[in-house]
Amino acid sequence: MPLQPNLPFSFEDLPEDMALLQKALRATLAGLPGLQDPGREQRILNLACGRADETGVLAEVFGSQAGALEIVGTDIRAPEIEEANKRWNTREDCDVQTRFHVEDGRRFLDSLSSNDRFDLTFMRHQNFWNDPALWGRMFDGALRQLSDDGLFVITSYFDREHELACKKLEKLGAVKVAEYRNPLSRALADGKGKSIDRHIAIFRRQRAS
Ligand SMILES: C[S@@+](CC[C@H](N)C(=O)[O-])C[C@H]1O[C@@H](n2cnc3c(N)ncnc32)[C@H](O)[C@@H]1O
Repeated sequence: MPLQPNLPFSFEDLPEDMALLQKALRATLAGLPGLQDPGREQRILNLACGRADETGVLAEVFGSQAGALEIVGTDIRAPEIEEANKRWNTREDCDVQTRFHVEDGRRFLDSLSSNDRFDLTFMRHQNFWNDPALWGRMFDGALRQLSDDGLFVITSYFDREHELACKKLEKLGAVKVAEYRNPLSRALADGKGKSIDRHIAIFRRQRAS
């Protein structure tokens, strides 16, 4: 579902980064059959979303066949969320609705009812290594709110942090269904071996047998 930003991106590298993320997500999804149920309403949760620059990419890659699409983002940083709301706010009569909250991800997840399900949870540049207890709790809460066929998608800056996050998700009962090392990932100067959307992994909840 096409979604155009209301404002230009804040940094000149971002349009290209978004184009590469879209390409990488499509490559990661390539082997997965029947992801979208055409015409159905879809809900996407973007956890710890920061400015949520990838909102248009998520709408395009995961919501292109949806009858209606809701994208919800949450992060503790107020200026980033304010920017996300300005950039991605949609009109009330639009088939895509967005809302971004300044809120701790744990509190946000705890406030949801068990019927409040998402078809996709996205965590870009997840930060599990930095505080395993905090992020492990968010992983767990997000997995619980996934719809039965829902997908949990993470991207990571570094090899080792990606490995650690994947291990934790599997320990929480998630099943990895796709893994992609992004060959076009843009290297960053502020960390050895750090690059934008360097790894992508996709998980499903374990299905009840
Ligand atoms: C590595 S940044 C990734 C931001 C964004 N997803 C991106 O790729 O640009 C990690 C993000 O986690 C957010 N964060 C840290 N603790 C959080 C919490 N308890 N709940 C929600 N977000 C949190 C930070 O504010 C930051 O935006």
